[in-house]
Amino acid sequence: MPPDAAVSPGAVATQDPPPLPDRAVSRTAGAGGPWAVELRGLRKVHGGGDRAVTALDGVSIGFGHGTFTAVMGPSGSGKSTLLQCAAGLDAPTGGHVLLGGTDVGALSETARTVLRRDRVGFVFQELNLVTSLTAAQNVELPARLGRRRVPAADVDAALAQVGLADRARHRPSEMSGGQQQRVAIARALLGRPEVLFADEPTGALDTRTSHEVLALLRRLVDRWGQTTLMVTHDPVAAAYADEVVVLADGRVADRIRNEPGHSDTPARIAAAVARSETARSEPARCGTARGGAAQAGTVRGGAAQAGRVRGAAAQGAAAQGGAGQPEAGR
Ligand SMILES: Nc1ncnc2c1ncn2[C@@H]1O[C@H](COP(=O)(O)OP(=O)(O)OP(=O)(O)O)[C@@H](O)[C@H]1O
Ligand SMILES: [Mg+2]
Repeated sequence: MPPDAAVSPGAVATQDPPPLPDRAVSRTAGAGGPWAVELRGLRKVHGGGDRAVTALDGVSIGFGHGTFTAVMGPSGSGKSTLLQCAAGLDAPTGGHVLLGGTDVGALSETARTVLRRDRVGFVFQELNLVTSLTAAQNVELPARLGRRRVPAADVDAALAQVGLADRARHRPSEMSGGQQQRVAIARALLGRPEVLFADEPTGALDTRTSHEVLALLRRLVDRWGQTTLMVTHDPVAAAYADEVVVLADGRVADRIRNEPGHSDTPARIAAAVARSETARSEPARCGTARGGAAQAGTVRGGAAQAGRVRGAAAQGAAAQGGAGQPEAGR
């Protein structure tokens, strides 16, 4: 059963958004060959001197056009850093980010600003909506701040695409958490980005509203070929993706292909994340960890993560038998 089938009447997945004809996305190889985003030997060190933290330690991976990838891993494993570097929001210390074949690091600051504006969309856990503005005004706000005129039809199309055509004049306080996150997604889609990046977009949402947002992301991929990279701690959320990339200590520790329609997928994902977590915490217990206190901190974060994964695994197991639970695949 696809996730959509579990959505109650009126939820986003029952609505079919109108096409955006000039959306520059495709499942077929385009600019940059098979990869919408390619990371080559990506390194990122935050800070300097004795406060330096290696967040990404040589990540090489490609994300295909029109694919939906979930990035998982323990707290502090580099997920947000990877997303920020891949989206051109943060500058790597080494290696390359290629977006549709464009080497982002080789661009001037001005060209990078244009690339961020025109070719990527970013959604955060915090909705960053302005409470005094309507949904439509929130969607067009970044463009307005950038002194760009946005045709009203484009704003309407973006809201329709997230199933909120009838909520354009509503303020955030008049919408559910899931609807507010969908407004944030519409805002990210306004520039018709080649790649949509989402950092824990359901992190602040309950199960039902999470499903609403995840079903929407899945739909954007399936209907419009919207290449999507999403960070999540939740294996149930990750099961909506085509593939799960597991990070540990700033490196790719595992990659899991999701099998459509397999209800054990969240449990499989949870097990893979727990495996990578166990593998990385072993050296710390033996007292051979790099970084002393910093490492101890990440192990504590990891323990918390393991708890979250276990909870999600139980949820995944429940999904196998429970009606109305989000299910793996699409
Ligand atoms: N601006 C910064 N300055 C210094 N260190 C940073 C900075 N941003 C991140 N870090 C460190 O880099 C490492 C990776 O951080 P990152 O935020 O990418 O992890 P994450 O996997 O997203 O974690 P979480 O699941 O908690 O969000 C962590 O050790 C973090 O403390
Ligand atoms: Mg993060």
